[in-house]
This record gives sequence, structure tokens and C-alpha cells, in this order.
Amino acid sequence: MKLKDKIVFITGGTSGIGFETAKLFRAEGAKLVVVGSNAERLKAAGVELGDDALLIQADLRKVADIEAAVEKVRAKLGHIDIVFANAGASTVAPLEAVTPEYVETNVALNFTGTFFTIQKTAPLMHKGGSIIVTTSFLNTVGMPGLSVLAATKAAARSLVRTLGAELAPRGIRVNAVSPGAISTPFYGKMGLTDEQLSSVAAGLQEKIALKRFGEPVELAKTALFLASDDSSYITGTEIVVDGGLTQF
Ligand SMILES: NC(=O)c1ccc[n+]([C@@H]2O[C@H](COP(=O)([O-])OP(=O)(O)OC[C@H]3O[C@@H](n4cnc5c(N)ncnc54)[C@H](OP(=O)(O)O)[C@@H]3O)[C@@H](O)[C@H]2O)c1
Repeated sequence: MKLKDKIVFITGGTSGIGFETAKLFRAEGAKLVVVGSNAERLKAAGVELGDDALLIQADLRKVADIEAAVEKVRAKLGHIDIVFANAGASTVAPLEAVTPEYVETNVALNFTGTFFTIQKTAPLMHKGGSIIVTTSFLNTVGMPGLSVLAATKAAARSLVRTLGAELAPRGIRVNAVSPGAISTPFYGKMGLTDEQLSSVAAGLQEKIALKRFGEPVELAKTALFLASDDSSYITGTEIVVDGGLTQF
């Protein structure tokens, strides 16, 4: 078991990539703390993850919620070994449709939420700890309608370098996993019609060298590598898991 008795704090652990990662980490012996904003999805995830998973409802757009979540972990478990700052969401908005409120909400979750997840959990972490941030293929390629999400993900990529440098003296590693197009509920929440979704999926699939969407478990396996001592000399970097989407 690669994560025996490790305490893992996973945001967005109720669905898609985070949920698959939670299941894999549990199978590798980890003690799970799973954060999500939707009470029903949190409950449903808990049924599958087992009684010993600590489920915390928090809206990561609110720093007070992140603080309260981390305080619950401190009171109950005392420390954290691994953080997977993975939660994220966005609707599609072309340039002319973007409003200040849209920017604020999007940045609050996809950048500020990630930043404060790291800031608030880091004091509970010790030497040997590992922080993994979920970035995106949008770091590298432009896709119409996703300007703000892409900018937050590029900012998150940058954060991994700076916070990696800040936390290295404490023996804490910070890395990113960058998904390409992965089959998760993410796309269904983007505010697109079924027709638009099919067209986006077909367009993406055409561009992916391996000619298929990735599976969330393929991200989970990469997160496991970055979480475990198998990656003990890796920090500040990003592992791209995208079937070649951004490489060819
Ligand atoms: N799927 C892809 O193709 C793809 C590509 C590139 C990057 N990514 C990134 O991968 C990460 C995981 O996405 P996914 O594909 O697994 O999508 P997903 O299945 O929709 O999962 C998103 C997770 O984020 C949580 N979340 C959303 N808003 C939240 C909030 N305000 N507060 C707390 N938690 C919140 C959701 O929990 P609730 O439902 O409880 O809110 C859910 O657990 C995201 O950062 C996404 O940007 C995905």
C-alpha cells in the first residue's frame, strides 16, 4: 500500500477525477477527508467511500468555509499528509458575455479556492507532505468561451512553482496534474445544450492523438504517483495526462 495511514484532503472529491482519486487512495490505505459543496453528492460519495471517510461540506469560493473545513480536520485528525486541490467548475462564456460577476465567481473557485486550500492546509502538513493541484490542458491551448477558466488554470500552474519554492524548505512537495479531455460530469455543468456538447466532444476527440477522452482513473493514478514517495524528488512540476492533446 502506497498511502498506508496517510491523511488525504481532497477537494472536489465527490465527483469525476476527485472521486476516482479518493477511491484509489483509499484502496492504497489512505484516510480520506473529502470536500464538496453539494450535500447530496457528498452523501452519495460517502456511501461508496465508507464510514471512515470524513465528509465536509464547504463552498470553496468562500475562504471562511475553507478555514472551517481545515479546522474540522485539525480537531479530528490533527494533521494532513497529502492535499489534492482539485475542485473546479465553469460555464462557457464568450468574450462579450463575460461580466465582472462571472469573473469573480470563476476566479473565486478555480484560483482563490485553490490558493487558500493550500494556505490553510499547509500549517497542518509535515516534512514528506505532498500537495497536488489539478490544472488543465487550457494552460497550453486556447478554446473559445473559456478565457477566464483558462486564465485561472494558468495561474494555478504558476502557483505550483511559487508555492513549491516556498514549501520546499519544509520538505513539502507541490505539483500539478494537468488533465486533457476527461469523461466526467464537468462538461454537463458548462451550460451547453446536448447538441453543443456533442459538437465540442467530437471536436476535442479529433484533436486528441489517442482519439479518445481520458478516464478519471487515469488521472487518479497520476495523482497517486505524485502523492506517494514514488515521486519523492519531484516538485514544482506539472504532469500532463491528455492523450497527446497538447503535445502534437
Ligand atoms: N473533465 C475534464 O475534461 C477536465 C479537463 C481539464 C481540467 N479539469 C479539472 O479537473 C478538476 C476536476 O473536475 P472533474 O472533471 O472531475 O469535474 P466534476 O466531476 O464536475 O467534479 C468537480 C468537483 O468540484 C467540486 N466543486 C465544484 N464547485 C465547488 C465549490 N464551489 N466548492 C466546493 N467544491 C466544488 C464538485 O463538488 P460539488 O458537486 O459538491 O460542488 C465536484 O466534486 C477541475 O479542477 C477541472 O477544472 C477537468
